[in-house]
Amino acid sequence: MKLKGRHLFGLALLTLLVYLFVSAPEPLPEAKPAVSAKFPVKLLFDVLAAEQHAARGIYTRRVVGPGLKTGMKFTEDWTDTDVEAGPLPAIFLRGVSIQLQSSNSEVGLFLGSDYPLSPLNKFTGIQIQHFEEIKKEGNPAFFLDPSNNMYTAMFLDPAGAPSCVSCHNNHPDTPKLDWQLNDPMGATTWLYPRENVSAEEVLTRLAILRTAMRDVYQVYLDKASAFTEAPVEIGAQWPKDGFYLPDADQFMQAVAEQASGDSLQTLLKAIGAQTHVGL
Ligand code: HEC
Repeated sequence: MKLKGRHLFGLALLTLLVYLFVSAPEPLPEAKPAVSAKFPVKLLFDVLAAEQHAARGIYTRRVVGPGLKTGMKFTEDWTDTDVEAGPLPAIFLRGVSIQLQSSNSEVGLFLGSDYPLSPLNKFTGIQIQHFEEIKKEGNPAFFLDPSNNMYTAMFLDPAGAPSCVSCHNNHPDTPKLDWQLNDPMGATTWLYPRENVSAEEVLTRLAILRTAMRDVYQVYLDKASAFTEAPVEIGAQWPKDGFYLPDADQFMQAVAEQASGDSLQTLLKAIGAQTHVGL
């Protein structure tokens, strides 16, 4: 009996996974899946972090990096009316975080540091202690923060490229002038109010995160479509070919291609461990 229930659960979950990863535009099938099984919130954090990591990577490596070479601009004050530029990756993340806040996802996100350029990004309380740990270990930290009662995950953000170091060291607001390559510059930090999550909860939060990323990218495209100093064409091409930006579909497809494999693997592993269905 129990085993049958688990199989049914596995099937229901597969339906959801197919919905999200394979046929997202199709409406969800009628069958109401029994997705009540609870997983530790770590599963939610792992899935969201993989997705966000993929998006930041694609944005940095395929938009900002080649864009700068082409002659496109990316700044902090990119939303000002007289500025023709796109958002720096950290500002892009800030935008996603604001979108998440205004959704009903209950998910908190920020890129924190012990030496931040923006005081809003400074770790506080128990976060400081956990950041010290992950600096040494390199592994993510998962803990309950008693100051706000939020389950918290921190994923290390190392200085992976010389541009991280030079931009931060030379920034007028930097509290630290000697960042070096591979230094632990901060941590992508996620917050969630509950200790356990259902599979459905994970998938809906993933969908909300994707929507938030698409919306922020679209704000950039809307602005870029009116650039006059260096007009940008929006469509299928990327900045490596010149003054081009991929449209939101192209951009999100690249993110999904990179992240979906990881996310699916993380989900299947967790579900397999819990249900013994052998997914
Ligand atoms: C061209 C400049 C620039 C580059 C390149 C850059 N950053 Fe930043 N970064 C910023 C700015 C500006 C902020 C503050 C954003 C805000 O106001 O939230 C920031 C914020 C951060 C934060 C949050 C803490 C803080 O300092 O406020 C971390 C961590 C971070 N960046 C890491 C990196 C890493 C790692 C790289 C390279 C992969 C990188 N940055 C590349 C400009 C840059």
